[in-house]
Parts: sequence; structure tokens; C-alpha cells
Amino acid sequence: MTDSTSATPFYTIGFSESILQHLRRHTAETHAAHLLPHLKPGLRVLDLGCGPGTLSIGLAEAIAPGALYGVDMEQSQVDLARSIAEAGGLDNATFQVGDVTELSFDDESFDVVHGNAILVHVPDTQAVLAEAKRVLKPGGLISVREWIMEASFLAPDFEVIGDAWATLAELITADDGHPNIGRDLKRHLLESGFTDVKPTASFTSYTTVEDIGYLSRVIEDWFFSADVRASATAYGVATQQQLDNLEQALKRWMSHPSAFGAVAYGESIAYKPQR
Ligand SMILES: C[S@@+](CC[C@H](N)C(=O)[O-])C[C@H]1O[C@@H](n2cnc3c(N)ncnc32)[C@H](O)[C@@H]1O
Repeated sequence: MTDSTSATPFYTIGFSESILQHLRRHTAETHAAHLLPHLKPGLRVLDLGCGPGTLSIGLAEAIAPGALYGVDMEQSQVDLARSIAEAGGLDNATFQVGDVTELSFDDESFDVVHGNAILVHVPDTQAVLAEAKRVLKPGGLISVREWIMEASFLAPDFEVIGDAWATLAELITADDGHPNIGRDLKRHLLESGFTDVKPTASFTSYTTVEDIGYLSRVIEDWFFSADVRASATAYGVATQQQLDNLEQALKRWMSHPSAFGAVAYGESIAYKPQR
């Protein structure tokens, strides 16, 4: 979706309040569990596409008194991250506006570079990984965690909800993003010259009444908003009738006693070779 007022015009999911609520549930424990065992006090860590920073501050806590830097192209997200760090009394977290394909940091200045749900949105994957490699010290660790849309699901599906994931994937692809890049992290990391690549996969699950209600609200407020409906029809990825059918199915899902949903992620750590 092109929004000329945004610093990230091709960032499909945008910055609505419901999307922000969704991102604020991201923590280091829920979205960087594969990385946490590798963190220790004193490291210098960079979080790529930090968004509102709830995940970043967990990383900052894990490496204190080391320094955590978060970069995001959107000023509003950087402001939110700063206020969350301040409210949490963290003085080792710095957030700044920047493009992950053109970082302002010196070569070999970080021990760890992390990114959650960023490669999915940036057209040039190799450009991001090349910058991550440049700013990492020799032997430094890269960590990524990214969506696998086609392995995500809501159950029961009513033989139609799967189409919603496919539609979302097509919207991201239309914005030159990569909705299933979580599957291909090993290949991308190897192609970028990282070594000792250790990929894993995991789901973020939505199962309690609170989770189901929350996920339904995000989908309803964002996916079925006038803006997204307009983009889906303009890009030719769904008709209004198909979106109406999906919306009805989602309403059935949210009040169904067996409702369960899970978003699939691929994640990986890897290392920049020693000199
Ligand atoms: C899905 S959010 C993920 C936020 C955070 N990593 C998390 O997991 O909670 C993706 C973020 O990437 C940012 N972004 C997209 N393209 C970017 C780019 N080229 N450079 C920097 N940030 C970018 C967006 O502004 C958005 O805040």
C-alpha cells in the first residue's frame, strides 16, 4: 500500500492503532527466544526495524550495561520506543531514525545484530544483510526472525480463512515484500557470507479467549479496513465479495469454542566470519 506521507511507503501493514497494539505484544521472550541464550551483559546490540521497541527493551535488559541501539525508518516508532525505554528506566537503549539498507553506524561496531519481522517488508534482502555484516565485528552474531505466511493458520478454517493468509501474502508481495521469507533464512544468510547458520522454526499461538479476541480485533480493524479493502481490490488480489465472505468467516471463528490461531516464523542465528 503506497502512503506518500510515510517514510516507509511500501510498508504493507502500516501504523494504525490496532497494528501498534499487536506489535506492543512483541517481547524478547516471545519473539527472540532463539537469541536470548546468546546474550550476556556488556554486549553492543543493534535491533533492525525496532518498531515501538517492546522487543528491543528486553534485549537491552539482557545486555545491560552494554548498549542497545534500535533503528526504524518511522519517527513515530522511534518516539514510542524512546518513551517505553524511559518508562522502564533503561539508560542503555538508544533509538534513532534510519534505513536498515543504509546504516549510519561504523564498520565492525556491534557484537550482535537482530531483526524481527523486518526482512519480510524490505524489498532488497541482501542489502539489509550486507549492512548487518558490515557493522558486525568479526565473529559477531546475526539473528533474524521472519514470517512464514503460508504456514500460519486459524482453525477452524471454514474452508475459507486460508484465503485471508494468501491475500495478506499477495498484498505484501505487491509491495515488493517477502511474505514467506522465514522459510529461506538459511539460504539468504549463506549467500550473504555468514557461517555456522542455525535455522529453527516456531509458532506464536493465539489460544486463550483474550488472545482470540485480541487477534480478531487486529484482523477486523486492519485487514477489513477501508484502506486495505481498497488496496486488495486495486491490486486485484481479492474482490469485495471475497473479502465479505472472509469477514463473515472470521466472525464465526472468533466466537467458535475451538478457535485457535498460530503465526509461523522461521528464525536463525549465524556468524560473521573471523578475519
Ligand atoms: C512489523 S514491524 C516490526 C517491529 C519490531 N521489530 C517488532 O518485532 O516488534 C516492522 C518495522 O520495520 C520498519 N521498517 C520497514 N522498512 C524499514 C527500513 N527500510 N528501514 C528501517 N525500518 C524499516 C517499519 O517502520 C516497522 O516499524
